[in-house]
Amino acid sequence: TRRILSGVQPTGSLHLGNYLGAIKQWVEFQNTGKFFPGARDENEVDGDNNNTIINENFFCVVDLHAITVPQDPSQLEESTLASAALYIASGIDPTKSKIFVQSHVSAHAELAWLLNCVTPMNWLERMIQYKDKAKKAAKVAAEASDDGSASSSNNSGVGVGLFTYPVLMAADILLYQADRVPVGEDQRQHLELARDIVRRFNSEYCRGNQYKNRCKKAGVPSRPVFTEPEAMIVSAPSGGEDEDGIGGVARVMSLTEGTSKMSKSDPSDYSRINILDPPDVIRDKIKKCKTDSYTTGIEWNNPDRPEATNLLNIYAAVQPHRTKEDILTEVTGMKWGTFKPLLAEAIVNHLEPIQTKYAAVRADETYLRSVLKEGADAAEAIAQTTLKAAKVAMGFSVPK
Ligand code: TYM
Repeated sequence: TRRILSGVQPTGSLHLGNYLGAIKQWVEFQNTGKFFPGARDENEVDGDNNNTIINENFFCVVDLHAITVPQDPSQLEESTLASAALYIASGIDPTKSKIFVQSHVSAHAELAWLLNCVTPMNWLERMIQYKDKAKKAAKVAAEASDDGSASSSNNSGVGVGLFTYPVLMAADILLYQADRVPVGEDQRQHLELARDIVRRFNSEYCRGNQYKNRCKKAGVPSRPVFTEPEAMIVSAPSGGEDEDGIGGVARVMSLTEGTSKMSKSDPSDYSRINILDPPDVIRDKIKKCKTDSYTTGIEWNNPDRPEATNLLNIYAAVQPHRTKEDILTEVTGMKWGTFKPLLAEAIVNHLEPIQTKYAAVRADETYLRSVLKEGADAAEAIAQTTLKAAKVAMGFSVPK
């Protein structure tokens, strides 16, 4: 059995970056056993036993992560249900994959606490995403405080949760012994951290005769508790910056600045295409998006033209049936004014069936809640087994 786990935060609306960088790969893997076209087939046959590997896919709406930055309590549940419905609308099939809400399985928060106590502060201080987000949050807090008591450098507006965010993410993954974690490029460092935590925990707690005795007494297997997860980051399908998957849709860029990432936290909605944007909004955003002063020819991978590369990456990703060569032949020699409407229509066409399905899923809340219940029940069973093993390893008294 091979376990796959991934998640998206239910903050605001999900955008093309979340979809192309992550969710689209989940669907691809669920349906084909490959993370992206051209990737190695993960369903390889086990040489000795001739057994095909069975995949178990868990896709989580990570609401506990969302509250690491302030959330409006009147919106959180709606955003959570909307995200789950978008997973289904994008092609996650609840009969093939489990969809659940992180806060419905309390083992996530519990394991995160145990892991918080084995993770050194300086591992977290290195996290790029924390540094970026803390800087932004402190700035907002400083602007909001009248008396200036919150300075932008003292972190007073930043919750501790933002700092330990990657540990909770490690808990999400480790609870399920997930071996593959399909994510966008920005999560690479968090996955490395999860691997470091696995190595530290297993080598510190899962060795020696006393460990074996504790396991025997508690009736759990005396093996290393956690599995090292591997990040699956989409390789640039049709022209990223390099073959390693950096660039391409593993990192979809903002529509208003080709060198920054498309993100939910950008104050301008014109910087992103939300999956649920109506066609006219998409057309308008593409019409107004940043381009460059080259008059003719849309090209890939010219370092002076990050916007061209990004828009072309999006154009290719929403037309997965077309080859890079085919697309290049079409766009070479085109003016922006000719290319933009084509791009807008390609995005609209790709998102249309997702939007239609989304409306249908949202119309039947009983169904959606039953999917989440079934997902949480399946997740809970596995999560509790791992949590118990972790507690035994650390020496806790576990109830009989
Ligand atoms: P979040 O909600 O920020 O992003 C969800 C997924 O979308 C990817 N992504 C992008 N990919 C390409 N281009 C972009 N501009 C872009 N923006 C976002 C992210 O890489 C991610 O895969 N920490 C995670 C959520 C999480 C998680 C987990 C993921 C919590 N626990 C366990 C995997 C496994 C995050 O930042 O999500």
